[in-house]
Amino acid sequence: MTVLVTGGAGFIGANFVLEWLAGSDETVVNIDKLSYAGNLKSLATVLHDPRHVFAQTDIIDSAAVRKLMDLHRPRAIVHFAAESHVDRSILGPDDFVSTNVVGTFHLLEEARRYHAAAADAERRDFRFINVSTDEVYGSLAPDDAPFSETHPYRPNSPYSASKAAADHLARSFFHTYGLPVITTNCSNNYGPLQFPEKLIPLMILNALRGASLPIYGDGLNVRDWLYVADHCAAIRLVLKHGRPGETYNIGGDAQLANINLVEKLCELLDELAPNPAIAAHKQLISYVPDRPGHDRRYAIDSSKIRRELGWQPSETFSSGLRRTVSWYLQNQDWIADIESGDYRHWIEANYGNRARQR
Ligand code: NAD
Ligand code: DAU
Repeated sequence: MTVLVTGGAGFIGANFVLEWLAGSDETVVNIDKLSYAGNLKSLATVLHDPRHVFAQTDIIDSAAVRKLMDLHRPRAIVHFAAESHVDRSILGPDDFVSTNVVGTFHLLEEARRYHAAAADAERRDFRFINVSTDEVYGSLAPDDAPFSETHPYRPNSPYSASKAAADHLARSFFHTYGLPVITTNCSNNYGPLQFPEKLIPLMILNALRGASLPIYGDGLNVRDWLYVADHCAAIRLVLKHGRPGETYNIGGDAQLANINLVEKLCELLDELAPNPAIAAHKQLISYVPDRPGHDRRYAIDSSKIRRELGWQPSETFSSGLRRTVSWYLQNQDWIADIESGDYRHWIEANYGNRARQR
């Protein structure tokens, strides 16, 4: 048996592949184009594992995807591949439409062709897991109820709009063609192997270098945080027991304003990586101009997946954050590798202008 994963060299995809191979004998075919966010170093321990077949392939390349599917006959596709960073979507939305909308469409088309031609048993068991985000629902006011699966779609950034488009296409392929699609909408993930453009790893790296910790706007935007291994466990459950055509919201019940999160992180760094040059990491916090169109609050109602599939997170935010900081402290090679690439250009593109506006 084989599962096909897209985007398995990225943050969540790599965690998923590593955990899958640690817990199962089933082969993983991993399709990833290795964008700036894809990193084979994250998969170093499984690169020579015969159960892991890596293909540097763009999901938009239907012929290449078709060849891999026909060769490996996967029983499921778990689709992580995406452009995933909101700030990048603001500075340049093209790649988001290309990968998230057109790429997902091409992948759905290949899955449809494969599913339609499969033998009865293969067709009955096949699943397409469309990994999506809570950002498709838009922004919540402070007292609004958390997003449930029936919350209307109101995406506000080019990133979330492109993910919403992908979700709509995935939904239509279930209703029109009977492709057994299941969509998951998850809140903010954090943990090992996250590219340091996202809030938590960016703040860890900056703090370790004594650089400023840039908080957008007033710092009171709220996100609902989930440790990445808990997201991966939810996806495995959805793959096993989820109902085709359904959507499942996944979240950690850990709502935090950005400033409170960064303060917690600073306290943890004071304990785990004290810097003799400063009394406390909090001194590095600096407010910078806001993200345009910045969603105020996300919060997930995950009662459906808890009730129907028995999922629950295993980490609290405190335990997950401690694990995460420890991982970054112990994996300086992985960090050095990223910092030697194009990373500095991104930091200048996103933060240079903010610094000049202050
Ligand atoms: P990431 O940016 O870390 O990784 C994305 C991966 O996809 C990279 O390895 C990249 O090389 C690959 N990729 C990009 N374009 C591709 C293409 N055209 N063809 C093949 N591969 C391509 O992203 P992530 O944070 O791991 O997110 C994975 C998925 O989960 C995304 O679909 C994202 O929308 C969703 N999601 C992320 C979060 C989060 O907090 N990170 C939360 C909810 C949902
Ligand atoms: O909610 C799920 C989404 O979470 C995923 O779909 C996205 O792929 C993922 O990137 C994440 O989106 P966010 O925009 O919420 O994550 P990010 O880490 O970029 O930012 C988290 C919050 O922190 C947000 O309110 C913006 C703020 N922020 C971020 C950065 C990078 C700062 O204040 N300063 C920063 O430097």
